[in-house]
Amino acid sequence: MNIPTQMKAFRFNHYREPAENQRIPVPTIGANEVLVYIHNSGLNPVDYKIQSGKMKIIFPFQLPLTMGNEFAGEVVQVGANVHDFRVGDRVYGRPDNQHTGTLADYIAIDQSEIALIPAELDYQSASGVPLTGLTSYQALVELGNIQPGQKVFIQAGAGGIGTMAIQIAKALGAYVTTTASPSKTALVRSLGADQVINYHEDYFADVLFHYDMVFDTLGGQYLKDSFRILRPGGRLVTINGLPTYQFGQDHHLGLAKSLLFSVASAPLRRFAKKHRVNYHFLIMHPSGSQLQILSQMIETEKLLPIIDRIYDFGEAQAAYDYLEGGHAQGKVIVNVNHTIEA
Ligand SMILES: NC(=O)c1ccc[n+]([C@@H]2O[C@H](COP(=O)([O-])OP(=O)(O)OC[C@H]3O[C@@H](n4cnc5c(N)ncnc54)[C@H](OP(=O)(O)O)[C@@H]3O)[C@@H](O)[C@H]2O)c1
Repeated sequence: MNIPTQMKAFRFNHYREPAENQRIPVPTIGANEVLVYIHNSGLNPVDYKIQSGKMKIIFPFQLPLTMGNEFAGEVVQVGANVHDFRVGDRVYGRPDNQHTGTLADYIAIDQSEIALIPAELDYQSASGVPLTGLTSYQALVELGNIQPGQKVFIQAGAGGIGTMAIQIAKALGAYVTTTASPSKTALVRSLGADQVINYHEDYFADVLFHYDMVFDTLGGQYLKDSFRILRPGGRLVTINGLPTYQFGQDHHLGLAKSLLFSVASAPLRRFAKKHRVNYHFLIMHPSGSQLQILSQMIETEKLLPIIDRIYDFGEAQAAYDYLEGGHAQGKVIVNVNHTIEA
């Protein structure tokens, strides 16, 4: 494939300003990187949270910034130290925070952050796997240490995260309870949920008790009330809570920010102590090796990405507006360079 010097990219110049279609140089690759021609990009709430400036206290981004944090595409160039991927490979991945930008024709990405796409997945479906799949895996396995037969409560089962997390928890042998609107109950049941709470009628913390793990995706009062449904020694993992001192240290964010996080998260840590629960705040991280595990789950039909809507590249803002409405059922996908696959 002839690689051009310029490409299209959907990006913003300043926080809180709308993103627009711009022409920018095609990135060059380092020795450990591959250049990927992007076919599709999955969208995530973190994209518009970054654009709003809400994430800059945790991760300072360099502006202008291309939007998008996960992709599926084709390898068109490999660096000198890359031996596991070849030109023509179908790959997917979630780039690290220094190399975001998947709503663009090309991305240069480290070989450790990608995996081969299972043969049974097309690019559109594959592009919805990396960010929500890895987040769910890291919450349930790395931090949750879910064991067969354990009871897991997953908030918002019908969303991008929920639809992945339910399936991964079931693959691990857990008993899964989730929340959903009545119109989405059939979907979450089809993914394996054992118990579904209609959150418009029942409040989860009034009806659940003695759980081994809670995977909180909503934060706020939902997070606070999650402590009381856990057994002593249970685990609470939130992806919508407040970072802790340890988080700041682990991510080399400096003493001042770590202390700030420590003060902000103190009430939650007090809750955790009172209920004798292990509390974790997770910011997911890229991982090609964990993505390979998810690929195996897809190959063995334990995991299937749920796609809600697919937009063309020129409709990227409309796609974000829909996602930000908060009612997506599974993933919202953008055709960056859509080709019909054989
Ligand atoms: N820390 C991290 O590394 C990380 C990684 C990924 C995501 N996140 C965060 O996790 C959150 C969820 O992400 P997502 O991709 O799943 O978002 P999403 O796809 O936009 O979630 C939408 C879904 O949430 C459901 N929902 C909303 N309020 C609910 C409630 N009170 N009870 C039950 N269901 C409810 C909606 O169902 P209805 O339409 O029926 O209301 C809808 O199906 C976001 O805030 C995101 O930023 C964090």
